[in-house]
This record gives sequence, C-alpha cells and structure tokens, in this order.
Amino acid sequence: MYLWERTATPAWLENKEHLLAATTPGAAVISVPGRAHISLQIVCATRAQAARLIRYFQGSAKPLARNWRQEYLPSQIHAPIRVGRRLLVVSEAIPSNQPLLVIPAAGAFGTGDHATTAMCLRLLEETTRKLPPGWRLLDAGTGTGILALAARRFGASEVLGLDNDPRAIAHARQNARLNYISRAKFLAGDVLRWKPTARYELITANLFSELLIAALPIFRRALRRKGHLIVSGILREQAPSVVRALRHSQFYLEQQRRRGKWVALRCAL
Ligand SMILES: C[S@@+](CC[C@H](N)C(=O)[O-])C[C@H]1O[C@@H](n2cnc3c(N)ncnc32)[C@H](O)[C@@H]1O
Repeated sequence: MYLWERTATPAWLENKEHLLAATTPGAAVISVPGRAHISLQIVCATRAQAARLIRYFQGSAKPLARNWRQEYLPSQIHAPIRVGRRLLVVSEAIPSNQPLLVIPAAGAFGTGDHATTAMCLRLLEETTRKLPPGWRLLDAGTGTGILALAARRFGASEVLGLDNDPRAIAHARQNARLNYISRAKFLAGDVLRWKPTARYELITANLFSELLIAALPIFRRALRRKGHLIVSGILREQAPSVVRALRHSQFYLEQQRRRGKWVALRCAL
C-alpha cells in the first residue's frame, strides 16, 4: 500500500476534482477552516497507481506500514457495537457467530457509535422483539441506512429509508448490497415533502428537534394504529418541547433514554 499526498488550493481542487475522483475513488480531502491550502491523501493499492497519480497530479508517495488503517483512519474503525443479543454492528467484517451488520465509515452519518444512533438501535431491538411477523419500517433521515438495515436483521419484512442527501442514499444502497440485504428501499427526498403511500408498524427518525416536530403530522399519517415511533437527535434541553409536540399529536410516550446531552424517545399512537 502507498499513500499519495499533496497540498492544493481550493481552486486547484475544484479544477481537478472530477478527474481525481474519476481516476481514484476514495480520496480523502482534509481542509482546515481558515487555512488557504487543502491536504489531499489517496491510499493506493500499488506503486504503479501512486506513480500514475504523481504523473497526473504531481505530489509525492510513500509506502504505508501494515497498520496504516489505525494510523490514518483512527476514528473510522470502531469497536463492534453489540445491540442486545441479536446484532453486532461492525465497520469491517469479522468472524462472529452473532448476526453482523457491516457499516463502513464513509461519507454519511450513522456508523452506530454516535449516542443518538446507539440509543435508536437499542430501542429498535427492544421494540421489535414482540412484533408479529410482516412488520415494516420507515426510517426518516437514514444516513448510512444503519437503522433500516438493522430492522431487516431484526425481522422487518421490508424497510424504506429516506434522506434528503443523495450521497447518503448511495451509501445506504451500497451498505444493503454489502450486507446482502434485500427488500430495503432507499429514496432521496425531504421527509417534510414526502407523501406516505403505505402505513408502517414502526418509524425511526434520528433527526433534530425542530424537524422532528415539523414531521409529526407526516409520521402520524405513515404510522399504523398502535405503531411505534422512535425519535432521537434531541438535545436534553429540547426534550420537553418534543414531548409536548408528541402529546399534542396524540402520541403517548412509552420510553425515554438519555446519553450525555442526547435524548431518544419511543412513543406509540
Ligand atoms: C443524524 S443523521 C441520522 C442517520 C442514521 N439514521 C442514524 O441514526 O445514525 C440524520 C440524517 O437525516 C438527513 N436529513 C436531514 N434533514 C432531512 C430532511 N429534511 N429530510 C430527509 N432527511 C434529512 C441527513 O442527511 C442525515 O443523513
């Protein structure tokens, strides 16, 4: 493995970004606010690939040590996250006799180690233990698709993930393929403009308080009677206003979890 790197101005990057992306997917662009120069790094599988980058884009390359992942990607590989007894979320496939969900750290939010995602995963695991077969899930603000894909592992017959960031949708679809998960549909779009065409037994929405409150009428329309809604992305001080809005929309609160400054809620219609 070789690491190609160079510094560049934002104008250089804008000019060459397309060519760079087409030549070598997976470039890391490190920009420091307030600095005029950007640092570019690309991990190359072969010396020839690194030499080609130098020919096209100048810069330099150096061989990488065996443990280059730990050195260069410290935050990208996290310890496996155990979700009850039914799932292990990992960033790289590992030998395991527990069902795995592999979610590599890449671009979109949702590798499982953020407090809000972790709380949603646990609430999802608990809630789905007793659901009769055939249940479906809507995941609003799906990011990497982690909650929707976990729901398939927990027995959902089908899942739909929505995100207004098309790159997140691309990651979520890729993660479904990586985990050989079918019947997981991911659509790009704003949750506030989405028109439900089906009703779901379960909705997860790890967004932020204002958006959650604004989306409650949509969640109400999309949720089956006696269905459950799991919400997070709520800061502690905003929790009372979200709870009030939920009650106002006829949801009743079933469970509240806190981790650090974050709150997650499970409620039902
Ligand atoms: C905090 S992340 C949650 C990702 C994942 N569900 C998880 O639990 O880790 C929120 C996601 O919501 C998406 N999002 C933000 N506003 C949205 C909107 N109005 N409609 C749809 N998705 C939205 C963001 O692009 C982001 O991927």
